[in-house]
Amino acid sequence: MRFHVSLSAAMASSIAVCRLRMRGSLSRCFKKVDSCFQRKFGTSTDATKTDAPNKKYKIEPKDGSKSFYTVQEEKIEQAERSVLISCPAKTNEKKFLQYLSRHGDINKCFFYESYGTYAVVEFANKESLKSLHEGTAIPSINHEATVPFKSRLLSLRNTGPLDLSNGQSAPQCQPQTTIPINDLIQRMSKEDSIDQQISSLTETYQLTEENVCLRFLVCSLLKDIAAAYFPECTIRPFGSSVNGFGKLGCDLDMFLDLDGISGRNLKKPKAGLSLEYQTKRSASERAATQSILSVIGECVDQFGPGCVGVQKILQARCPLVRFAHQPSGFQCDLTANNRVAMKSSELLYLYGGLDQRVRYLVFSVRCWARAHSITSSIPGAWITNFSLTVMVLFFLQRRTIPILPTLDHLKELAGPIDKSVIEGNDCTFVSDFTKIQLQDNTETLEQLLQEFFEFYGTFAFNRMSINIRKGREQNKPEVSPLHIQNPFEPALNVSKNVNGTQLERFVALCRESAWMLQQREFNLPHSGNGASTGNNAPWGLAALLMPSVSQAAGVKSRKKRKREPASERIKGLLDSLKNREEKKS
Ligand code: GTP
Ligand code: MG
Repeated sequence: MRFHVSLSAAMASSIAVCRLRMRGSLSRCFKKVDSCFQRKFGTSTDATKTDAPNKKYKIEPKDGSKSFYTVQEEKIEQAERSVLISCPAKTNEKKFLQYLSRHGDINKCFFYESYGTYAVVEFANKESLKSLHEGTAIPSINHEATVPFKSRLLSLRNTGPLDLSNGQSAPQCQPQTTIPINDLIQRMSKEDSIDQQISSLTETYQLTEENVCLRFLVCSLLKDIAAAYFPECTIRPFGSSVNGFGKLGCDLDMFLDLDGISGRNLKKPKAGLSLEYQTKRSASERAATQSILSVIGECVDQFGPGCVGVQKILQARCPLVRFAHQPSGFQCDLTANNRVAMKSSELLYLYGGLDQRVRYLVFSVRCWARAHSITSSIPGAWITNFSLTVMVLFFLQRRTIPILPTLDHLKELAGPIDKSVIEGNDCTFVSDFTKIQLQDNTETLEQLLQEFFEFYGTFAFNRMSINIRKGREQNKPEVSPLHIQNPFEPALNVSKNVNGTQLERFVALCRESAWMLQQREFNLPHSGNGASTGNNAPWGLAALLMPSVSQAAGVKSRKKRKREPASERIKGLLDSLKNREEKKS
């Protein structure tokens, strides 16, 4: 999450997300993705080819799109049956699994690298963990004392004669972090259409099934710590880890959910005797959240294996504990009492699951914005990924034939189980995908990308606010340069942090990108680029990710902004086009 805390504080705990590499195992039986996203999108390059007439982008209900909470509950339950084990580099998979299966059947297991080799092992039954814990020792260290906390983060040691490696070298690992942007540009330049480029970008960057499992497991490991105080609590991932728009390496936003304990959902008897707990009173909900996070943060710091650089950022608008979880490589933000953010994640998940083009477009726009430093991993006056995603959703609602319904319409479709009021705000909307009827829009991704840039290149930001609840722009209620109404807290602007300079950079880049996509030389692989010719010079979306685009738009860097006159920029682009022509001939 982005919070308005000091830059140095935010940076201090930040560790580079380490190279996370995973490899499959256990007959790769579990490899088939069970999340609805992966099932729906798979590697469906074909589905995005521009030349397919009457192309269907919509996700058919027969795919059985699971609701956000169904997926959450399934993955939380799987994580509770799982352990994370640090292994010697040359561990023989078969022997490893044989050794562990003495505790019970194993559903799935995968390995990855992050400062060493780790295995995620999911048992078929939770009882296996009891047996595993009984057979696991607290390490005896000669010179240091240890906190005897029995977590599910373990180390595999081999002190006996058994050769764990069985003569094998380290197994082949599949890199699971994002590839460098230049490699992505090269990969995309080999594609034959912009639609394929967009699809290639999304498939390269999106979270893998294993990465999502690991995210839920880290939440579950954290829950074991918080459970010392709140045994019935749940720690849930939210934000891009679960909303369908997560990129490999994104942070892990977590929410300490105490609803199960506080009885928020418990109905009290209307009459008669009843018991209630005596509790300590707090001055406000915020104060209660701060003290809970303070205590849990202290525990994570003192007893949480693998948790380093713990910072308690309790004065932020949304108090949080920030730390790095070394075994997974995740930068973690733990919040509490943050149910609106969970709802936002659910809404984004729903929108992303309605039509394939939503995720493809969001991934492309996020990547384009990151490549030109429109967004940043550091909090500041720039547009956040969350705001950018809402802007894409709004744009898709504003098509002549809307691709996405308004939030008000999703509210109309809601059933009794969808009713949700959080802190006085009505957050109700339908959760069942099958109740949503979409209109027949067949625009291609290429068209949509082009029009996205035109839409925001000419949007009346000075007067208008972006509102996905109504699906239309509205008069700005305040003077912030960029106004995006918070979908669930209408009085709030999700982009309040964005200053005029950053908005100008965004608009200039949109215009430049729209202009470039209109030039046939840039958007046709067949004129000298693309797979068919063997010439992989950046073109189409790949060319839009190049630094030259921000240079041409006069948005070279945040610090040093020197605008060239428009005629100069256009001259530069025309020169580069001419050069290409000359090279070709
Ligand atoms: P990345 O971490 O950048 O990949 O994206 P993210 O969607 O996870 O964003 P971030 O970590 O900044 O925030 C996590 C979640 O918190 C978002 O997905 C939103 O659900 C919520 N969130 C973030 N910023 C705001 C905001 O300004 N207003 C509201 N209501 N929710 C926000
Ligand atoms: Mg995040």
